[in-house]
Amino acid sequence: MAKPKLAIVVGSNRRDSINRKLAEALAKLGAEAFETSFVRIDDLPLYSQDLEAEGSWPAQADRLKGEIAAADAILIVTPEHNRSIPAALKNAIDFASRPHGKNAWAGKLIAVTGTSGGAIGTAVAQQHLRMIMTNLAGAVLGGQVFVTFKEGLIDDRHEITDEKTRKFLQGFIDQFAGVARKFAS
Ligand code: FNR
Repeated sequence: MAKPKLAIVVGSNRRDSINRKLAEALAKLGAEAFETSFVRIDDLPLYSQDLEAEGSWPAQADRLKGEIAAADAILIVTPEHNRSIPAALKNAIDFASRPHGKNAWAGKLIAVTGTSGGAIGTAVAQQHLRMIMTNLAGAVLGGQVFVTFKEGLIDDRHEITDEKTRKFLQGFIDQFAGVARKFAS
């Protein structure tokens, strides 16, 4: 059986994003289970409904929608900005949900996680994200994966250096892959 196709969306457009580091580490933990690709969101213009007029829809939004549509499952790895998700991520979610009736998230399996230096590791952003994606997607994976980032947690080879955290995240990826295989079949 072919591996389920996983698209990873990083909710940060920061150059040295710790969420991108976590996403790379998760991609590595899921290398056996998934065929993985990363989705770019940092070159999208700011969404406006005016862009839905004929001839105005940006090519980057078509690319984003195509990548989401081609995936069986999507992992969103996001920072928390002011107790919610970053504007860049919401912008991408909105683009992929439009135009009305052509929502690329429809029927997809979504998993969410994220990391921040704070003790509750993006918990509130993830709650908001779950609420949004429950409205748009086919299913949102249950469970809670909040990662508190510490210097050195992820090394240059995308390995998680803390054994307990690595095992926990491997369990998350394995559970996600198990559900994704059912979704893809
Ligand atoms: C933050 N940060 C933050 N952290 C957090 O745990 N809860 C929060 O509500 C916020 N709010 C917030 C707002 C804004 C505008 C910024 C720029 C930052 C800190 C944030 O977690 C930190 O910058 C991370 O490094 C962001 O993740 P990336 O971009 O490195 O992946």
